[in-house]
Amino acid sequence: MTEMTDRELAEIAYSMQERAYVPYSNYPVGAAILCADGTVFTGCNVENAAYGSSICAERTALLKAVSEGHRDDWVKIAVVTSGDDAGYPCGSCRQMLYEFAPDLKIIIGGKDKVLSTITLSELLPHGFGPSALD
Ligand code: THU
Repeated sequence: MTEMTDRELAEIAYSMQERAYVPYSNYPVGAAILCADGTVFTGCNVENAAYGSSICAERTALLKAVSEGHRDDWVKIAVVTSGDDAGYPCGSCRQMLYEFAPDLKIIIGGKDKVLSTITLSELLPHGFGPSALD
């Protein structure tokens, strides 16, 4: 099977961005995780009147993947915003992604175009992961 291109995965993330619930920040984010078998798990940010209870798009997608039994076969994630500059994952999302895919490829999309590709190990060098607890 031909692997999904970065642009194709970003397109799925852009579709998800439309489902973001962002009445407080007005900053919609979409995410899509591609697994080795071609399965894609999507997410958007979902905010809450108790602001701290809000969840990011990446972690929505991550929780969907893990809870559906996909936690060690991630190929890449696309994260998209409407910004002119790349919106990189926040610290909490970097940490949670690191647990399952420390060298994950991350595609960052801004307003209508892919702006950057980077790896999680570049964004979170010397991360704290499961092996630290061995
Ligand atoms: N947000 C994400 O969805 N992903 C990130 O990596 C950064 C921030 C969301 C959280 C909140 O709903 C809005 O963007 C503004 O912080």
